[in-house]
Order: sequence, then structure tokens, then C-alpha cells
Amino acid sequence: MLDFQYHNPTRIVFGRGQMAELDKLVPAGARVLVLYGGQSAERHGTLAAVRSALGSRWHAEFGGIEPNPRYETLLRAVELLRSQRVDFLLAVGGGSVIDGSKFVAAAARHAGDPWAILESFGGVVREALPLGVVLTLPATGSEMNHTAVVTRESTGTKAFFASPQVAPRFSILDPELGYTLPPRQLANGVVDAFTHVVEQYLTYPVDARVQDRWAEGLLQTLIEIGPEVVHGEPDYASRANLTWAATMALNGLVGAGVPHDWATHIVGHELTARHGIDHARTLAILLPSMLDLRREAKRAKLLQYAERVWQLADGPEDERIDGAIARTRTFFESLGVPTRLADYGIGADALDELVERLNAHGSTRLGEHGDVTPEFARRVFEASL
Ligand code: NZQ
Ligand code: ZN
Repeated sequence: MLDFQYHNPTRIVFGRGQMAELDKLVPAGARVLVLYGGQSAERHGTLAAVRSALGSRWHAEFGGIEPNPRYETLLRAVELLRSQRVDFLLAVGGGSVIDGSKFVAAAARHAGDPWAILESFGGVVREALPLGVVLTLPATGSEMNHTAVVTRESTGTKAFFASPQVAPRFSILDPELGYTLPPRQLANGVVDAFTHVVEQYLTYPVDARVQDRWAEGLLQTLIEIGPEVVHGEPDYASRANLTWAATMALNGLVGAGVPHDWATHIVGHELTARHGIDHARTLAILLPSMLDLRREAKRAKLLQYAERVWQLADGPEDERIDGAIARTRTFFESLGVPTRLADYGIGADALDELVERLNAHGSTRLGEHGDVTPEFARRVFEASL
């Protein structure tokens, strides 16, 4: 196992009706800015419940944080904070609202150019406004980590930063808040959580048995509950399991003391930034081809994945690997998530620009061995057409 430090400051408050806890979680007397996305939180009553739980605390609201939150929009929230005294941020939404709020929390306490927060990957962040979360969409794990992804519309750059300063103080995870989610967002959640685990598990062995078995347990859980979550009526047991699996998939536990990949994610960000494809859907397109083309470097873990996750233990090695990759693709498709660029009308003529963008963004040595170059990514795109 590799050396590691693990610290997670986020208090998780999990279960039905936990909004009632908000009054204890937000400091008494705090002046609160509530941040949210489009209309879902208002329409489905989550904002009304938040307002009521905040009681007599002064609060203001900032709505309109879009999916793949825009830097330009978030700067307007930072501007609002300059004119109002606010000492606590409350994000009500999915990954986009939480990530956007993390950026606002850091930018509000940053003296220079806010873009430096993203350019330095969070290195310049010294302090941030405290942040709490009410999660409405289980997917990204942002509710229990200190990473955020922000898109700068003017340049088409999807960038991320990380800082312990923006880790949520608490996150309320009530699976029932997600009962209003459409199948597309539920499927995205399953695929995103699944790929988060894969990117921390499917690298090379370092004898991290606990992490490996956690990872395999999460993958098996997602395979088991995915179809019923997406195609069935809302059911508390399966939504609760999805919520906890998605949170656990990216809160640092599965990834402690093991190599990380993230090539699928970073290459996928270019597909979102250029072609507007949902984050999780970019992963479903790229992951099968990434695993296929990198099978030599990942061979030992691919065989372990085939055996322990897909029960493929017999036959020649490459057949088992082929079988595991094919089942992964079929699993995504079974959730209604397409796995080909062609499904989005993207053909070979689009690849030069995507490769150029990877170069321009410095994404030139990705993956656990740093060998996923933009030219290698071109092969992955070609295999995903
Ligand atoms: O905007 P509203 O109207 O609220 O609608 C949202 C949005 O359109 C809707 N929604 C959310 N909760 C709902 C609901 N609709 C009905 N009922 C509810 N309860 O869902 C839509 C998508 O929301 P979004 O927050 O964009 O989705 P998700 O949670 O998948 O977040 C995606 C973002 O997270 C980033 C992605 O890059 C992307 O920008 N990620 C963040 C990570 C992190 N911080 O660690 C890691 C991930 O890999 C990912 O990169
Ligand atoms: Zn993701």
C-alpha cells in the first residue's frame, strides 16, 4: 500500500427527514447565503424546507447555478457577497451547485484574480467561507470531498481545484430528496459513481486489500441497484444505497493509499466543454475504450475486476478481460446511457480539435503511469466513435 494521510471533516447526516437537523448544523445567528441551481429545488419544495429550517436566521438566496457551473455565473455570487455580510454558505443541489458553492466560498476570501484559484488547482486558497450542503442528486461525491469543477464559458475551459478549506462542514443526505430526479440524472449518478471507483481501483496492484474490496463492494452494489433505481419507482432502500455508494465512491476512502487514474475524467471534460455532453455520459463513452487500449498496463487489475466483479474466472486472460469490458459497456447501456460518440453525432472530424484542447489545457501526461498523452487520447476517441 502507498503512504497516505486521510482526514475528512464533513459530518454526514443521513436519512429521511434530516432537514430538521439543519437548525443545529448551521451556527445560530449565522448570516446565510443559500445557493441553488435552476428550478428543481424550488419546484419540489426543497428550498421551502430549507427556508423553514433556517428559522429566524437572516438569509439571502442565489439561484441559477447551471449544470457544469459557469465561472462567470459564480463571480456574480461573489459580487453579491461583497455587498452583503454573509458568514455561511448553504449549497442546495447536486454536484454543480456544490462545486459552484465551493468556488464561491474560496473566491470570497481570495484577494487577487479568482481564476488563480483554478489555475493553481487550489494552491492559492488560504481560507474560505464555511459551507454546508443539502444534497438533491447522488452522483459526484462532492458532498464529502474538497474538489470542485468549474467551466469558464469564455474560453471553453473545464477546470478543477481542490482545497481542504472548501470541504463541506456537513452534508444532509436524505435519499427522498432525489425522488423527483428524472431517469437520465439517476443513470448519470450510477455511471459517475461507478467510474469514480474504477478510476481509483483499476490501475495496478499495491496490495491494498481493504481498498480493493471496498471498491469491489461499491461496484457490485451499483451493478445490483442501478437498473431498479433508473427504471423502477422510487424505493427508499435502493435510493439510500445509491446515495451512500456515490458518497463513498469519492470521499477519499477507496482512493487512500492506492494509485489513481483519472484519465477518463479529464479527457471527458473536453467532451463536456466542447460538445455539452453530461459529465457521466462522457465517462460511459470513454471508459470501455480506455480499459481496452490500456489492457497491458492494467492487466492484473483487469483480471481481478473480471473475476471479482463480473465472476469471470475461467478461460484465456484476454477473453476474461474482453468479457469484463463488454459487461461494463452493457451495464451502462442497460441504464439508458449511450456509449458511443456517434450517439451524440460526433464523428472523426471532431477529434483534432479535442486533441488540441487537451494539449492547450496541459492534459498531456494523464493516468497512473502518465502515459495517456493527447495522441493516445486520439486513439481512445477513435475506438469510441
Ligand atoms: O438545476 P436544477 O433545476 O436544480 O436541476 C438539476 C440539473 O439540471 C437537476 N436536479 C438536481 N437535483 C434534482 C434535480 N432534478 C430533479 N430533482 C432533484 N432532486 O439535475 C441536473 C443536473 O444537476 P448537476 O448538479 O449538474 O448534476 P451532477 O450532480 O451530476 O453534477 C455534475 C457536475 O459535477 C462535476 C461534474 O464535472 C459536473 O460539473 N463533478 C464534480 C466532482 C467533485 N466535485 O468531486 C467529481 C465528478 O467527477 C464531477 O466531475
Ligand atoms: Zn465524475
